[in-house]
Amino acid sequence: MSLFTVDKAKCRKDGFCAAECPVQIIRIEASSKLPVLIEGGEERCINCGHCVAVCPHQAFRLSSMALEDCPELPQGWELAPEQVSQLLKARRSIRVYKEDPVSEEIFLKVLDAARYAPSGMNRQPLRWLIIREPQKVQELARLTIDWMRALIKDNSPLAQSLRAENLVLAWDKGQDLICRRAPHLVVPYGLKEDFTALGAATIALTYLELAALPFELGTCWAGYANMALNKYPLAREFTGISKRCDFLGAMMIGYPKLKYYRFPLRNVPQIKWI
Ligand SMILES: Cc1cc2nc3c(=O)[nH]c(=O)nc-3n(C[C@H](O)[C@H](O)[C@H](O)COP(=O)(O)O)c2cc1C
Repeated sequence: MSLFTVDKAKCRKDGFCAAECPVQIIRIEASSKLPVLIEGGEERCINCGHCVAVCPHQAFRLSSMALEDCPELPQGWELAPEQVSQLLKARRSIRVYKEDPVSEEIFLKVLDAARYAPSGMNRQPLRWLIIREPQKVQELARLTIDWMRALIKDNSPLAQSLRAENLVLAWDKGQDLICRRAPHLVVPYGLKEDFTALGAATIALTYLELAALPFELGTCWAGYANMALNKYPLAREFTGISKRCDFLGAMMIGYPKLKYYRFPLRNVPQIKWI
Protein backbone atom coordinates (compact mmCIF):
# COMPACT_ATOMS: atom_id res chain seq x y z
CA MET A 1 0.00 0.00 0.00
CA SER A 2 1.33 3.47 -0.83
CA LEU A 3 2.30 5.76 2.06
CA PHE A 4 -0.44 8.26 1.21
CA THR A 5 -3.23 8.90 -1.22
CA VAL A 6 -4.70 12.18 -2.37
CA ASP A 7 -8.35 12.60 -3.25
CA LYS A 8 -7.97 14.47 -6.53
CA ALA A 9 -11.56 15.74 -6.43
CA LYS A 10 -11.03 17.31 -3.00
CA CYS A 11 -7.44 18.56 -3.37
CA ARG A 12 -7.29 22.34 -3.99
CA LYS A 13 -3.61 22.18 -4.95
CA ASP A 14 -2.64 24.64 -2.22
CA GLY A 15 0.59 22.76 -1.45
CA PHE A 16 0.04 22.98 2.32
CA CYS A 17 0.93 19.29 2.80
CA ALA A 18 4.29 19.65 1.03
CA ALA A 19 5.12 22.91 2.83
CA GLU A 20 4.29 21.33 6.18
CA CYS A 21 6.08 17.98 5.86
CA PRO A 22 9.02 18.12 8.34
CA VAL A 23 11.07 15.58 6.38
CA GLN A 24 10.19 17.00 2.95
CA ILE A 25 9.05 13.83 1.31
CA ILE A 26 6.04 15.40 -0.41
CA ARG A 27 6.65 17.07 -3.76
CA ILE A 28 4.18 19.07 -5.82
CA GLU A 29 4.14 17.64 -9.32
CA ALA A 30 4.80 20.35 -11.89
CA SER A 31 2.06 19.50 -14.39
CA SER A 32 -0.81 18.33 -12.17
CA LYS A 33 0.11 20.48 -9.13
CA LEU A 34 -0.88 17.48 -7.01
CA PRO A 35 1.22 16.22 -4.08
CA VAL A 36 3.30 13.12 -4.79
CA LEU A 37 5.74 11.08 -2.72
CA ILE A 38 9.43 11.58 -3.52
CA GLU A 39 11.51 8.50 -4.26
CA GLY A 40 12.52 6.69 -1.06
CA GLY A 41 10.06 8.82 0.92
CA GLU A 42 8.49 5.86 2.74
CA GLU A 43 11.63 5.24 4.80
CA ARG A 44 11.95 8.90 5.77
CA CYS A 45 8.36 9.43 6.91
CA ILE A 46 8.14 9.96 10.70
CA ASN A 47 4.38 9.38 10.74
CA CYS A 48 3.69 12.73 12.42
CA GLY A 49 0.40 13.17 10.55
CA HIS A 50 0.94 16.87 9.91
CA CYS A 51 0.04 16.38 6.23
CA VAL A 52 -3.37 15.06 7.27
CA ALA A 53 -3.87 17.63 10.01
CA VAL A 54 -2.99 20.65 7.84
CA CYS A 55 -5.23 19.79 4.87
CA PRO A 56 -8.40 21.91 5.14
CA HIS A 57 -10.21 19.82 2.52
CA GLN A 58 -9.82 16.27 3.88
CA ALA A 59 -8.04 15.38 0.67
CA PHE A 60 -4.88 13.87 2.18
CA ARG A 61 -4.91 10.35 3.57
CA LEU A 62 -2.02 8.52 5.21
CA SER A 63 -2.23 4.74 5.00
CA SER A 64 -1.08 4.51 8.64
CA MET A 65 -3.57 7.04 9.99
CA ALA A 66 -7.21 6.88 8.89
CA LEU A 67 -8.73 10.32 8.45
CA GLU A 68 -11.77 9.14 10.44
CA ASP A 69 -9.49 8.41 13.41
CA CYS A 70 -8.07 11.95 13.43
CA PRO A 71 -10.68 14.07 15.22
CA GLU A 72 -11.43 17.54 13.87
CA LEU A 73 -10.21 20.43 16.02
CA PRO A 74 -13.16 21.97 17.86
CA GLN A 75 -13.75 25.61 16.96
CA GLY A 76 -14.10 28.34 19.57
CA TRP A 77 -12.17 26.55 22.33
CA GLU A 78 -9.15 28.83 22.12
CA LEU A 79 -7.96 29.99 25.55
CA ALA A 80 -7.13 33.62 26.28
CA PRO A 81 -3.41 34.30 26.99
CA GLU A 82 -4.32 35.17 30.59
CA GLN A 83 -6.02 31.79 31.04
CA VAL A 84 -3.02 29.88 29.72
CA SER A 85 -0.66 31.96 31.84
CA GLN A 86 -2.77 31.33 34.94
CA LEU A 87 -2.91 27.59 34.25
CA LEU A 88 0.89 27.43 34.00
CA LYS A 89 1.61 29.68 36.96
CA ALA A 90 -0.98 28.16 39.28
CA ARG A 91 0.40 24.62 38.99
CA ARG A 92 2.21 23.70 42.20
CA SER A 93 4.20 20.70 43.30
CA ILE A 94 1.79 18.91 45.61
CA ARG A 95 3.21 17.23 48.69
CA VAL A 96 0.13 16.69 50.85
CA TYR A 97 -2.41 14.26 49.43
CA LYS A 98 -5.83 12.92 50.30
CA GLU A 99 -6.10 9.14 50.42
CA ASP A 100 -8.81 9.10 47.71
CA PRO A 101 -7.72 7.01 44.74
CA VAL A 102 -7.61 8.28 41.15
CA SER A 103 -9.86 6.21 38.91
CA GLU A 104 -8.49 4.32 35.94
CA GLU A 105 -10.74 6.42 33.72
CA ILE A 106 -9.11 9.65 34.86
CA PHE A 107 -5.61 8.15 34.58
CA LEU A 108 -6.37 7.27 30.99
CA LYS A 109 -7.71 10.75 30.23
CA VAL A 110 -4.61 12.40 31.62
CA LEU A 111 -2.31 10.03 29.72
CA ASP A 112 -4.34 10.62 26.58
CA ALA A 113 -3.21 14.26 26.72
CA ALA A 114 0.37 13.40 27.75
CA ARG A 115 0.84 11.21 24.67
CA TYR A 116 0.53 14.36 22.53
CA ALA A 117 3.77 15.75 23.99
CA PRO A 118 6.43 16.31 21.34
CA SER A 119 9.13 13.65 20.90
CA GLY A 120 12.33 13.73 18.83
CA MET A 121 11.56 12.48 15.31
CA ASN A 122 8.08 11.70 16.57
CA ARG A 123 9.46 8.44 17.93
CA GLN A 124 7.00 8.39 20.85
CA PRO A 125 9.49 6.23 22.73
CA LEU A 126 7.75 6.07 26.10
CA ARG A 127 6.09 3.28 28.02
CA TRP A 128 4.30 3.97 31.28
CA LEU A 129 4.46 2.25 34.62
CA ILE A 130 1.61 3.29 36.91
CA ILE A 131 1.95 2.27 40.51
CA ARG A 132 -1.69 2.39 41.56
CA GLU A 133 -1.62 0.63 44.89
CA PRO A 134 -0.71 3.14 47.65
CA GLN A 135 1.07 0.36 49.59
CA LYS A 136 3.24 -0.30 46.53
CA VAL A 137 4.15 3.40 46.33
CA GLN A 138 5.18 3.15 49.97
CA GLU A 139 7.19 0.02 49.17
CA LEU A 140 9.12 1.94 46.53
CA ALA A 141 9.66 4.81 48.98
CA ARG A 142 11.04 2.29 51.49
CA LEU A 143 13.33 0.78 48.85
CA THR A 144 14.58 4.29 48.05
CA ILE A 145 15.38 4.77 51.74
CA ASP A 146 17.14 1.37 51.81
CA TRP A 147 19.26 2.54 48.87
CA MET A 148 20.07 5.77 50.70
CA ARG A 149 21.09 3.84 53.82
CA ALA A 150 23.52 1.88 51.63
CA LEU A 151 24.90 5.12 50.12
CA ILE A 152 25.47 6.53 53.60
CA LYS A 153 27.14 3.32 54.75
CA ASP A 154 29.45 3.38 51.71
CA ASN A 155 30.32 7.04 52.28
CA SER A 156 29.11 7.75 48.77
CA PRO A 157 29.36 11.43 47.74
CA LEU A 158 25.83 10.98 46.36
CA ALA A 159 24.57 10.56 49.92
CA GLN A 160 25.80 14.08 50.66
CA SER A 161 24.36 15.68 47.56
CA LEU A 162 21.00 14.04 48.17
CA ARG A 163 21.09 14.94 51.88
CA ALA A 164 20.25 11.31 52.37
CA GLU A 165 20.73 11.39 56.13
CA ASN A 166 17.87 13.86 56.60
CA LEU A 167 15.60 11.77 54.40
CA VAL A 168 16.42 8.56 56.26
CA LEU A 169 16.01 10.25 59.62
CA ALA A 170 12.61 11.59 58.64
CA TRP A 171 11.58 8.14 57.35
CA ASP A 172 12.57 6.55 60.65
CA LYS A 173 10.31 9.08 62.40
CA GLY A 174 7.41 8.05 60.16
CA GLN A 175 7.69 10.87 57.61
CA ASP A 176 7.83 10.03 53.90
CA LEU A 177 9.83 12.73 52.08
CA ILE A 178 10.34 10.39 49.09
CA CYS A 179 6.80 9.88 47.77
CA ARG A 180 4.99 12.09 50.27
CA ARG A 181 2.39 9.39 50.87
CA ALA A 182 0.99 10.11 47.43
CA PRO A 183 -1.50 7.39 46.53
CA HIS A 184 0.00 6.79 43.08
CA LEU A 185 3.21 7.15 41.10
CA VAL A 186 3.54 7.49 37.32
CA VAL A 187 6.86 6.45 35.78
CA PRO A 188 7.70 6.74 32.08
CA TYR A 189 10.43 4.42 30.86
CA GLY A 190 12.13 3.69 27.58
CA LEU A 191 14.94 1.80 25.90
CA LYS A 192 18.40 2.88 27.09
CA GLU A 193 19.67 3.36 23.55
CA ASP A 194 16.86 5.70 22.51
CA PHE A 195 18.53 9.09 22.71
CA THR A 196 15.20 10.90 22.35
CA ALA A 197 13.55 9.19 25.30
CA LEU A 198 14.68 11.33 28.25
CA GLY A 199 13.62 14.58 26.60
CA ALA A 200 10.33 13.04 25.55
CA ALA A 201 9.64 11.82 29.07
CA THR A 202 10.41 15.17 30.68
CA ILE A 203 8.02 16.92 28.34
CA ALA A 204 5.36 14.23 28.63
CA LEU A 205 5.43 14.46 32.43
CA THR A 206 5.10 18.21 32.13
CA TYR A 207 2.07 17.71 29.88
CA LEU A 208 0.75 15.22 32.41
CA GLU A 209 1.08 17.70 35.29
CA LEU A 210 -0.91 20.27 33.34
CA ALA A 211 -3.46 17.80 31.99
CA ALA A 212 -4.12 16.67 35.58
CA LEU A 213 -5.17 20.16 36.73
CA PRO A 214 -8.73 20.29 35.33
CA PHE A 215 -9.40 16.98 37.12
CA GLU A 216 -8.42 18.73 40.37
CA LEU A 217 -5.45 16.40 40.64
CA GLY A 218 -2.09 17.37 42.04
CA THR A 219 1.34 16.08 41.04
CA CYS A 220 4.95 16.33 42.13
CA TRP A 221 8.17 15.07 40.57
CA ALA A 222 9.61 12.24 42.63
CA GLY A 223 13.31 12.75 41.89
CA TYR A 224 14.63 10.52 44.67
CA ALA A 225 12.43 7.59 43.73
CA ASN A 226 13.43 8.02 40.09
CA MET A 227 17.13 7.83 41.01
CA ALA A 228 16.59 4.74 43.13
CA LEU A 229 14.69 3.05 40.30
CA ASN A 230 17.71 3.51 38.02
CA LYS A 231 20.48 2.93 40.52
CA TYR A 232 19.21 0.39 43.04
CA PRO A 233 18.73 -3.10 41.57
CA LEU A 234 16.11 -4.04 44.17
CA ALA A 235 13.99 -1.05 43.16
CA ARG A 236 14.11 -2.10 39.51
CA GLU A 237 13.33 -5.68 40.50
CA PHE A 238 10.27 -4.38 42.35
CA THR A 239 8.91 -2.98 39.06
CA GLY A 240 9.73 -5.99 36.89
CA ILE A 241 10.90 -3.62 34.11
CA SER A 242 13.74 -4.91 31.92
CA LYS A 243 17.33 -3.76 32.47
CA ARG A 244 17.30 -2.67 28.84
CA CYS A 245 15.17 0.30 29.88
CA ASP A 246 15.85 3.48 31.82
CA PHE A 247 13.31 5.04 34.16
CA LEU A 248 12.91 8.52 32.73
CA GLY A 249 11.16 10.35 35.53
CA ALA A 250 8.68 9.66 38.30
CA MET A 251 5.64 11.64 39.31
CA MET A 252 3.43 11.48 42.37
CA ILE A 253 -0.23 11.99 41.63
CA GLY A 254 -3.38 12.26 43.73
CA TYR A 255 -5.96 14.68 45.10
CA PRO A 256 -4.39 17.58 47.03
CA LYS A 257 -5.42 18.13 50.62
CA LEU A 258 -4.53 21.82 50.58
CA LYS A 259 -5.48 24.79 48.38
CA TYR A 260 -3.29 27.69 47.27
CA TYR A 261 -4.35 31.31 47.44
CA ARG A 262 -1.39 33.13 45.88
CA PHE A 263 1.24 32.76 43.20
CA PRO A 264 4.69 32.41 44.79
CA LEU A 265 7.44 34.55 43.26
CA ARG A 266 9.89 33.15 40.74
CA ASN A 267 13.09 34.66 39.33
CA VAL A 268 12.63 37.08 36.47
CA PRO A 269 14.00 35.64 33.21
CA GLN A 270 17.68 36.40 32.59
CA ILE A 271 17.65 37.25 28.90
CA LYS A 272 20.35 38.11 26.41
CA TRP A 273 18.73 39.51 23.29
CA ILE A 274 20.54 39.31 19.99
C1 LIG B 1 13.40 16.86 38.02
C2 LIG B 1 12.69 17.28 39.27
C3 LIG B 1 12.75 16.47 40.40
C4 LIG B 1 12.06 16.82 41.56
N1 LIG B 1 12.07 15.97 42.61
C5 LIG B 1 11.34 16.26 43.71
C6 LIG B 1 11.28 15.35 44.81
O1 LIG B 1 11.90 14.28 44.79
N2 LIG B 1 10.54 15.68 45.89
C7 LIG B 1 9.84 16.86 45.96
O2 LIG B 1 9.16 17.10 46.96
N3 LIG B 1 9.85 17.74 44.92
C8 LIG B 1 10.58 17.47 43.81
N4 LIG B 1 10.58 18.35 42.74
C9 LIG B 1 9.73 19.55 42.78
C10 LIG B 1 10.49 20.87 42.94
O3 LIG B 1 11.00 20.95 44.24
C11 LIG B 1 9.50 22.02 42.64
O4 LIG B 1 9.17 21.97 41.27
C12 LIG B 1 10.07 23.38 42.97
O5 LIG B 1 10.30 23.52 44.34
C13 LIG B 1 9.14 24.52 42.53
O6 LIG B 1 7.84 24.40 43.10
P1 LIG B 1 6.55 24.37 42.17
O7 LIG B 1 6.67 23.15 41.29
O8 LIG B 1 5.37 24.29 43.07
O9 LIG B 1 6.56 25.62 41.35
C14 LIG B 1 11.29 18.03 41.59
C15 LIG B 1 11.23 18.83 40.45
C16 LIG B 1 11.90 18.46 39.29
C17 LIG B 1 11.76 19.31 38.07
